[in-house]
Formats: sequence, C-alpha cells, structure tokens
Amino acid sequence: MKTYKIAILAGDGIGPEIMREAIKVFKLVEERNAVRFELLEAAFGGQAYFETGHPFPEETKAICDAADAIIKGPIGLSHEESQKIPVDMQPERGALLPLRARFNTYANFRPVYLPKAIASFSPLKPEIVGEGIDIIMVRELVGGLYFGHKETGVNEQGQRYVKEVLEYDEGQIRQILHEGFKLANRRKKVLHNIHKSNVLKSSVLWNEIVAELAPQYPDVKVVHMLVDAAATHLCLNPTQFDVMVMENMFGDILSDQGGGILGSLGLMPSACMGAEKAYYEPSHGSAPDIAGKNIANPYSMIGSVAMMLEMSFGMEEEAKNVWAAMQGVFADGYSTPDLSRGGADVQLISTDAFGDKVVEKLRAMPVPGN
Ligand code: IPM
Ligand code: MG
Repeated sequence: MKTYKIAILAGDGIGPEIMREAIKVFKLVEERNAVRFELLEAAFGGQAYFETGHPFPEETKAICDAADAIIKGPIGLSHEESQKIPVDMQPERGALLPLRARFNTYANFRPVYLPKAIASFSPLKPEIVGEGIDIIMVRELVGGLYFGHKETGVNEQGQRYVKEVLEYDEGQIRQILHEGFKLANRRKKVLHNIHKSNVLKSSVLWNEIVAELAPQYPDVKVVHMLVDAAATHLCLNPTQFDVMVMENMFGDILSDQGGGILGSLGLMPSACMGAEKAYYEPSHGSAPDIAGKNIANPYSMIGSVAMMLEMSFGMEEEAKNVWAAMQGVFADGYSTPDLSRGGADVQLISTDAFGDKVVEKLRAMPVPGN
C-alpha cells in the first residue's frame, strides 16, 4: 500500500478550524482507497512565532523536508498582533516566502472555478457568468519583486528611499511558461500571456521567451494581454479565459481579483509546485476577524486537499470526487455564514458541519477503480 507523509501546517486565524475539515477528508480518502497518509502537524506562522520564537521553526522545516507533500493553512495576524513581531519575523516574510524559497515552488496554480452550483456567489451578472467560470491562473512564485534585492536608506538629498528589484533570468521564465503551455495543451489550448511589455523590460524578455517556446506547442494559441487590460476583461468577460500565465506580482493581484469575481477568496485553493516538492494552500489570508467562530467555509482548504491528491499523488478521480462533493453540498442549499449572501433558499451551517457534509457526500460516491 502506498504511504505518503503529509506535513500539516494549520497556520493562523481560521487556519486550524478549516484544516480540521481538510483532515477529515484525508482520513476518508485513506479509508476508501489503497493509500495511507501519515499526517504530521507542525507549527507555522504568527502563532508559531509566539510559541517558539520563529514563524518557521527548525522542527517544522525538518518535518517539511521529510514530507512527500505539504498542506498549509492561511497565515497572518491582525494589524495589532503583527506589530508585536519584528518586520522580518512576521509570518509572510519570516515563514511563507522562506517556505516557497526552500522548496523552490516556482509554479503556483490557482483555479478560478465557478461551476453552476455556486454561480450565485459571484457579484457578476448571470449573463456574464454564463455557463460558469473555469480559469486556472499560473503564477510564477519564487522570482520577481518578491525575491529581488531590497534596499532602504537615506539618499544624498537626505530623503529616505527604497529600492526593490524585479529580476528574472531566462531559465526562470522558461520553466513557468512551460507549465502554462503544458496546462493549456491539456485543456482548451488557449494560453493568455499576461504582461506589461509597454513599460517593463522584464515583460519584454518574458514575451521573447513566449515566442521562442510557442513552436514547441503548435496546438496552443497564445493570446497576449496587458495586465491592466486583463483586470478589466476578468470583470467584463471572464469566460474568454482558460489558462493565464504571469509573473509573481501580477499573479498575486489578478488571482485575488479571481476570488473577487467568484464572490470570495474562500473559494480559492491553490497548488505551489517545485521540481521536488509541492505545497498546497488557500489563496486567502487568515481572516482574524472571523477566527474561532466556526463560520469560515473550508472549501479552499478541502480544495487544496483535492489538488494534492491530483497533482502530488496522481489520484485524479478521487480528486474530482472531492470537488464534486463540495459542489454537491452547495447545490443542496448549504453554505456557511462567511460565504452566504442570504436568501431564503440557503441554509447556513457551521465550518465543521460543512466539512461533515462534504465527507458524507464523498462517502456516498463510488470509489475510483472499483
Ligand atoms: C498569496 C498571498 C501572499 C503573496 C502573501 C501572504 C505574502 O497574498 O499567496 O497570494 O503575496 O504571495
Ligand atoms: Mg495574494
């Protein structure tokens, strides 16, 4: 029987409560399939800093190093709590970016997925959502402004200044573009290349490499789009997109907009893939304002489980079942208070009740291969 070690980093805010629901899904998948998961919980994020003095403790690093895959909840603290931590130890800079760098998880896949069952969450008009939105944003995750040289100081005029470098080499660009092209090839064969080559030299090089790689994917049609225009098109006509590829900072911003057109970042799981290791995480923050209230929807966390099953363990069918189970719970008229827009037809349930319903749906589905 296949056994996988999974590092569980519950994170901050709503992290622990939505992770609990994800763990229920791992347990059921294990029960239904010829697979064993060894779940290793480890401290990570702001809470980890207060408990151990570091947001990415050595012990957690060792657990992640030894794991076959990592699942991570959201991290981050309220503004007030963050202020109690030195800037470089704050969970984003002290834990999340180092996690990405450690495992060189350069390819971030963010589905912006709105099937019919949850179409009413979208703030867009039904005629714009049409048959539903089904985009995957492919974001470069370990380069660009996030990881470039940073400098602050006082210049000769006595002014405080800051300098942050947006740097990519061709190898980094090539590897993320290959991911975009390969995915487009497996899907609808249209790749939206998102750039800002009218201003940024980094985009000029990026686009040169797009042109160099395109002949290797003759079936894929490349559509070039400036990042600012893409932001508009995502609102006006999101169904024109299938796979979008972009550099790190553009991807950070447009993927949040993706959550916006779905109606909530709570509907955004993601996969962060390196050559050797992958980790999975919701695209959203830790929502300290609703933490501990048992009202956060676990969709993004359970969706991250589905992405792990598919992308790390090759369990495509079971991954589809997990997605379908979640859609099914919405289709039955259930939601959690954080996601609901009200309406008489929606029955509000808690985080754990939602997780239980997902598990119940999944249990009722045929086991793949049986
Ligand atoms: C994301 C988040 C992170 C990012 C933050 C928490 C550092 O916004 O994963 O999109 O900017 O990459
Ligand atoms: Mg972001």
